[in-house]
Amino acid sequence: MSEKIAIYPGSFDPVTYGHLDIIRRGLSVFDHIIVAVLNNSRKDPLFTVNERVSLLKTATEGLGSVSVDSFDGLLMDYVHKKNVKIVLRGLRAISDFEYELQIASINKSLNPEIETCFMMTSNRFSFLSSSMVKEVAKYGGSVHDLVPEAVEQAIKQKYLTGGNGL
Ligand code: PNS
Repeated sequence: MSEKIAIYPGSFDPVTYGHLDIIRRGLSVFDHIIVAVLNNSRKDPLFTVNERVSLLKTATEGLGSVSVDSFDGLLMDYVHKKNVKIVLRGLRAISDFEYELQIASINKSLNPEIETCFMMTSNRFSFLSSSMVKEVAKYGGSVHDLVPEAVEQAIKQKYLTGGNGL
């Protein structure tokens, strides 16, 4: 039987415990997960794509069969190039639904062969987003319980050296 592989795309600016929760849950269903960091030209990220990939690699060490990559352009082109049929996304609350429905519907119209699989984030992370983490850290709050240690240190470093990126 062939391996069940899913691509988990996102901005991951930076990776949070909420993202790691989805990766863990994904690994209970899929044999391998490719975490794909969007090299977003529109947003003004705090971390470069290479930094986001590197933080994700550290954060996913020991979780299981996970690889981390980055992509430009359309997700459906990237998924096609990787020969994968499933996109994994997390849903935190009902407020995510409309945005996710839009993305999944556009992707379906671009490539009807691809399915988007949603997993519910654990309740304790339902409020958690990368933007919130950046805002808390920017104003000196503790993000210790929200992100892995390496991310916490990297954010502190960014704001010490005058990063912005909310
Ligand atoms: O973490 P995010 O920012 O909510 O992730 C959004 C993402 C990366 C899944 C989405 O913006 C995306 O796939 N962008 C790539 C461009 C694309 O394919 N656009 C059409 C579908 S929105």
